[in-house]
Amino acid sequence: MKVVFIGDVVASPGRQGFAEVMPELRERFEPDLVIVNGENSAGGVGITPNTAAELFAAGADVITLGNHAYRRSEVLDYLDGEAPVIRPSNFRRSNPGRGSILVEAAGRTVAVINLIGRIGLDAARSPFDEADLLIDELSDRADAIVVDFHAEVTSEKVALGWYLDGRVAAVLGTHTHVPTADGRVLPGGTAFISDVGMTGSRNGVLGVDREVIIERMRTGMPARFTDATGDVWVMGAAIEIGENGLAVGIEPFQVQASG
Ligand SMILES: [Fe+2]
Ligand SMILES: [Fe+2]
Repeated sequence: MKVVFIGDVVASPGRQGFAEVMPELRERFEPDLVIVNGENSAGGVGITPNTAAELFAAGADVITLGNHAYRRSEVLDYLDGEAPVIRPSNFRRSNPGRGSILVEAAGRTVAVINLIGRIGLDAARSPFDEADLLIDELSDRADAIVVDFHAEVTSEKVALGWYLDGRVAAVLGTHTHVPTADGRVLPGGTAFISDVGMTGSRNGVLGVDREVIIERMRTGMPARFTDATGDVWVMGAAIEIGENGLAVGIEPFQVQASG
């Protein structure tokens, strides 16, 4: 079974780039399941039912989120609905939405789990303990488990990769919007990468207009974010999962869109 996982889609340049490049990715990787991190899909922060619908129409099967999950008020009820959009599981339990989902792909059941890091981000519980709980709960029902670990710090991501090695098919990092060169299958059979990167404009700073960010960092004064445009890239990783529910391979990719 092949899974294509797409890094944080940022604003309309990212959404358009994803829609444009997806047919090429389908041809190249023949995915049975497409997982997309959509936490920045609405104007760079958050997601709305409309931007989620756009990602689904372009080929996403499951959307994962992160620290910006709740930035748009119109998404709160939507996250409690039927759409296959998940937010980090280790947010507070009373928060809208859910942190894992079971989906059918290639005649098998795949559990997708979203976790958020504790270092520099706001997690209600340890991602390590949360992963243990979810694996206990889901492993009887799922043939394979794929984890989106939305975290700031490479050490926390690498540590969770090792912690889950041999228990899940993949631990794929998101949030930093910068791809790392450490994609590999760990000895126990878990595909791992610290960060798959983002889907959006490389002209900015993590998808935001660079002049705004430079000015903010230079002066320390607040400034209104606007989206970067042009030089759009779609970044992610393709994972092949064997019959035993563990990874056979991981191939990170960066594909340029025309925008
Ligand atoms: Fe992000
Ligand atoms: Fe994030």
